[in-house]
Amino acid sequence: MWDDKGRRYLDLHAGHGAAFLGHANPKIIAAIREVLASGLLAVAASFSTPWREKAAESIGRITPGRWIMYMLNTGTEAVELALKIAIKATGRRKIVAFKGSFHGRTLGSLSVTWNPAYRGVFAANGYPVVFAPYNDPYSIDNYVDDDTAAVIMETVLGEGGVVPAAKEFVQAVRKVTRERGALLIIDDVQAGFGRIGCAWSWICYGVEPDVFTAGKSIGGGVPVSLVMVKHEFNALERSEYGSTHGGNPLASAAVAAAVEVLINDRVPEKASRMGTIFEEELKSKLEGKRLVRDIRVKGLMVGVELRKPPGPALKCLQDNGILALKAGATTVRFLPPYIIEESDVEEAADALAKCIE
Ligand SMILES: Cc1ncc(COP(=O)(O)O)c(C=O)c1O
Repeated sequence: MWDDKGRRYLDLHAGHGAAFLGHANPKIIAAIREVLASGLLAVAASFSTPWREKAAESIGRITPGRWIMYMLNTGTEAVELALKIAIKATGRRKIVAFKGSFHGRTLGSLSVTWNPAYRGVFAANGYPVVFAPYNDPYSIDNYVDDDTAAVIMETVLGEGGVVPAAKEFVQAVRKVTRERGALLIIDDVQAGFGRIGCAWSWICYGVEPDVFTAGKSIGGGVPVSLVMVKHEFNALERSEYGSTHGGNPLASAAVAAAVEVLINDRVPEKASRMGTIFEEELKSKLEGKRLVRDIRVKGLMVGVELRKPPGPALKCLQDNGILALKAGATTVRFLPPYIIEESDVEEAADALAKCIE
């Protein structure tokens, strides 16, 4: 990234992670140009288009199992639809979410989002929501009962502080939801699409959800989101899903191109490898720093928890040519694109070491 004065930045913010495939990825740009040249930007979801068909086929290539795919525009919309599907499929009303979770800013998504600063006076959807402790494989059993429609979870808390779930925890949640007839919704808007080392984050965790969401980077920067539902839980009537722009040609073409990049460029493997290098680099450069409380890395979700709010460190990083973002109350978060190289990682770790002197 370059600013208006020509200053160069290493963009490890990547538009809240949406530019995971890099800015101006030539494959994405070419796909979008083709749609623009056709002049066809708005097609109602009730009509099939070659672009939408191709998007579905492409997503099928990276998603094991048989799924129904719904196309929407933003992450929060995908979460709303996922919750509706669970409520309809189970005939139940209660939702279990986790402390530290973030699922979006519309009313339903806010009601399963933990942070009171986001919830404000708005979180109310008329459905009971309880928040269980994250990463506790034992207590989840006490929260999921016969009234529970779904448990919604991130495999790595993103906004909540870059906190990876333990495998044992995710598997315990899967087990208890199956036992009680509740659906497991994995919100893969941030951790999905290669970012933590697998096409979908749940693949890395060895579980299969009943419903999952995707967004952010799946269109290479073009706004688009998905809800994927296992066939057997696809309970919605035609009148219960609709979206004027959902699956529009631009978004669909971008998704198909993004999947091609993901496969051809082995994006998940690269994310995993660069994440390991990033972690090693941070651990060595930040060793002994009193201000650092913890370093948490899962693929290219990278968090450095400080002992104080990260605002000044983020400003200093920006002054030193590194764009990063905040997570939780005290964590510096990096969401780099997969094209990041070792020298970039070194530069970022050096800058952070200097900024938290
Ligand atoms: C896990 C998760 N779910 C949902 C959302 C909401 O996505 P959007 O901002 O596209 O509505 C986000 C955004 O950060 C997210 O990280």
